[in-house]
Parts: sequence; C-alpha cells; structure tokens
Amino acid sequence: MKRIGILTSGGDSPGMNAAIRSATRVAISRGVEMFGIMRGYQGMIEGDFVPLDRRAVAGIIGRGGTILKTARSKEFMKPAGRARAHEKVRGAGLEGLVVIGGDGSFRGAYKLSSEFDIPVIGVPGSIDNDSVGTDSTIGFDTAVNIALEAIDRIRDTASSHDRVFFIEVMGRSSGFIALHSGLCGGAEAILIPEVRGELNELAALLKENRRQGKLCNIVVVAEGEESGGAFTIANMIKTLTGLDFRVTILGHIQRGGIPTAADRLLATRLGAAAAEALLDGKRNVMAGVSGNDIVLTPFEQIWDCRKEPDLGLLRLAKLLS
Ligand code: F6P
Repeated sequence: MKRIGILTSGGDSPGMNAAIRSATRVAISRGVEMFGIMRGYQGMIEGDFVPLDRRAVAGIIGRGGTILKTARSKEFMKPAGRARAHEKVRGAGLEGLVVIGGDGSFRGAYKLSSEFDIPVIGVPGSIDNDSVGTDSTIGFDTAVNIALEAIDRIRDTASSHDRVFFIEVMGRSSGFIALHSGLCGGAEAILIPEVRGELNELAALLKENRRQGKLCNIVVVAEGEESGGAFTIANMIKTLTGLDFRVTILGHIQRGGIPTAADRLLATRLGAAAAEALLDGKRNVMAGVSGNDIVLTPFEQIWDCRKEPDLGLLRLAKLLS
C-alpha cells in the first residue's frame, strides 16, 4: 500500500486525536502516505480529504475532540451514498482505511468494504465502552473520571443539605459509565439499563436510609435511550417515598476535555495497531485490548453480541453503600 485514509465517526471521544496521531506516524514510518477524511463518512462522500504528515498531527495527543471532525451520515447508510464515497476514495488513491468510532461506524465500514473490496480496520472510540472485542473503548476512562469528579462535588452539596440527588450520566443504552463512576463515587444506588425494574427497591432503600439517619443519598442513573430520564425516575421515587430531590444531568461535559493518561495510552496503542494491521494485509477487524494484549476481532462478531457490564460490580456497590 502506498496511501491510506483515516476518519473519525459517531460521537467524539477524548483520545481520538491520540489514535489519529499514532496511526499516522506508524503509517509514515512504514513509507505510506496518510490522508485525513474530514467529518467521517459525510466527508468521504464529499471527497473532503487532507494530507497528514508528521507535523500535521503534532501537539494533539492531549487534545479532546477530533481534529478530523465527526458526523453521523444518513447518506452513507444508503448504497448510493457508499458508491459516491468509494468513488472519492478510489479517486484519491486511498488503498485502505482506519475508522475510529463505535459499532455503527464499523457496520458502515464493513458494508463499504464488502461492496467495494477495500480493506478497513476499526479502532473503538466511544465514551460508552459498549463495543465487544475490547476491555475498554477510547474515551471511556476520561468520561468516568469527569462523571466521578461531578459526583464528588455534588456529594458536598447533598451532604450539606441532607438531600437526595439523582445524577444522570451518559451511555446510550449502556450502563458502563454509571456503574464505574457510581461505584468509585460511593453512590447509594446505581441504575443501569441492563438491570430493569428496581424502583420499588430503590424507594425502600432510600426510606430505610432515612430511618437510619442517612440523609445524603446519591443515585447515579445511566441515561439509557433518552437524556432526561432521571427526572422521570426521580419523580416516581418522590411519589413512592415523599422525599424531596435534585437532579443533575451531566450531558456533553463528559465527552470533551483532556484525555486521561489511560485513554492516551489505549488510543496510542490501538491507533498504531490498526495502522500496522492494515499495512500487514489484515481487513475488516477492530483493534482492541484484552488484558494487556492487543487483539483483532472481525467486524461481524462485534455487532452480533452486546457487551455486558460486570454485574458483580453492581452487587459490590450495593453491598458497600
Ligand atoms: O455514544 C456516545 C454518546 O455520548 C452517548 O453516551 C449519548 O447518548 C450520545 O452519544 C449523545 O449523542 P449526541 O452528541 O449526538 O447528542
């Protein structure tokens, strides 16, 4: 291969830039030109490509967001959109692609690759940590730490006012951020979409805590399908218990900002592994980490399975609360 492309797709996550940097520099070190594809698949359709040399990716390892920008392209979902994208890719002489994003991005990559015989390697970039084939996705650790800092801060107020707080964290239909930040923040309860129907139990817990004189209670809620669900839950708990509450929705502050060392390390390793895999002739796999090892998982296996959080951690959080 003489020239390859790299893009970021779906929600941005802290550490994506570190992955772009390492993939680019590994490719260059092997005598291959790297092109950045702007705005994900939408930029691919529009032929919005920029050459990336070593200097183009300087100073970005500690920057959140993505220098390539990102988008969710509806047009790429259709065969005609992918045909246009492939035309631009072929016209620019790109012989392979590195795609940084989540499951949806890999599904798109797989379709493009199968329809037009172009090799693609995935890198899991999402704060949600919901990709199988890797212990952690790029950005998850940073998001957990941001949520944790917020929980610690809110505990000061909850404790000063003897209040119940519901803190909603991100994670579309996945409870990883809630579980990890809630456990580390000593939350009295953690609600995740993987475990349903616990409201009566939560109401009983909050009443019992109050009876025992424990008046400051923090409930960490994963957003699930729709942001703002914590308000509905809190109101239902108020009906069941009569307890007053406050709700804080953390929202997009969890996606931005400086990536942690753990995310920079993960991104640097996975970006390099993806470029190496592509140049070694691999295709249609995602580079992930298992224990301390880099592993390559075929795209088809990624969306066939749902990544489940460790419910042992939820039991531990309950025991310790
Ligand atoms: O997938 C990452 C994520 O941050 C989810 O946790 C969240 O539900 C979603 O993206 C929000 O997407 P958007 O930025 O498009 O509102």
